[in-house]
Amino acid sequence: MNNNYQKELAIAIRAAREAGRLIRDKIYRHQITETKSCLSDLVTEVDRQAEACIVKLIKQHFPGHAVVGEEQEGNCAGEPGGAMTWYVDPLDGTTNFVFGVPFCAVSIALADHGIPVLGVVHDPLREETFTAVQDGGAQLNGSPIRADNTIATLDRSLLVTGYPGNIAKRPRMHLINYKQVIDRCNNLRALGSAALELAYVAGGRLTGFWEVSLRPWDVAAGMVLVKEAGGAVSDPAGQPLQLTEYVDITASNGLIHQELLECLEWPGDMGAMI
Ligand code: IPD
Ligand code: CA
Ligand code: CA
Repeated sequence: MNNNYQKELAIAIRAAREAGRLIRDKIYRHQITETKSCLSDLVTEVDRQAEACIVKLIKQHFPGHAVVGEEQEGNCAGEPGGAMTWYVDPLDGTTNFVFGVPFCAVSIALADHGIPVLGVVHDPLREETFTAVQDGGAQLNGSPIRADNTIATLDRSLLVTGYPGNIAKRPRMHLINYKQVIDRCNNLRALGSAALELAYVAGGRLTGFWEVSLRPWDVAAGMVLVKEAGGAVSDPAGQPLQLTEYVDITASNGLIHQELLECLEWPGDMGAMI
């Protein structure tokens, strides 16, 4: 048993489940939907209540740690993390939540000098809690999970992708050659929660995932899950992924990683478009 970060893990699981109860209670009964950066970038009172509940618990137990939460005013995503920085997405899949599509999650990660070392993704509607700490493997409700180790080619793969919440970021997606992916894979989904999609790659339910213009709180927990489950996570060039302000990510079971990267055309100067 790996004793690293066990106290942090216990608090992250507790926080995720407390926030998850708020989500479960309100999924068909939330009252306020507001927009953030554009009409399709939504936030509800549940996002804010869930974040407050998570941040309170983390600060109470780890007063010296930094916390970057999606709903914080002036959050400092992309700034070099201090020794210990938590990344909190209190409700990943807000659009699904608002429309009553039952696919969303709480995502909590801890990064040590910018490297994610702990990840918890909790699906409150199915009571599934995916957890991982560095060098400790990945678990679902406490039982070990691993990325699929049987599928080695795209033509047998079930892939998943997503569309940036902020419509201004979507033009970048057209640069990616979907046709090549769709023509070559078994099939392609877009389920609407990047954190849960990454957890599903970790659990072997999906073979690979990619998305552009995500934020650190969308991916940090899922990165730990996929790596600890034996999968692969990288940037579009196949290099280690950094938690920068915006994140372009590819994650997979590892066996299909190179073939997936080759299918996705990521012009080197895409960063200039955002
Ligand atoms: C969104 C989800 C979605 C992804 C968007 C994200 P939010 O997060 O992860 O799957 O496609 O890019 O913004 O806004 O629901 O926390
Ligand atoms: Ca999110
Ligand atoms: Ca969110």
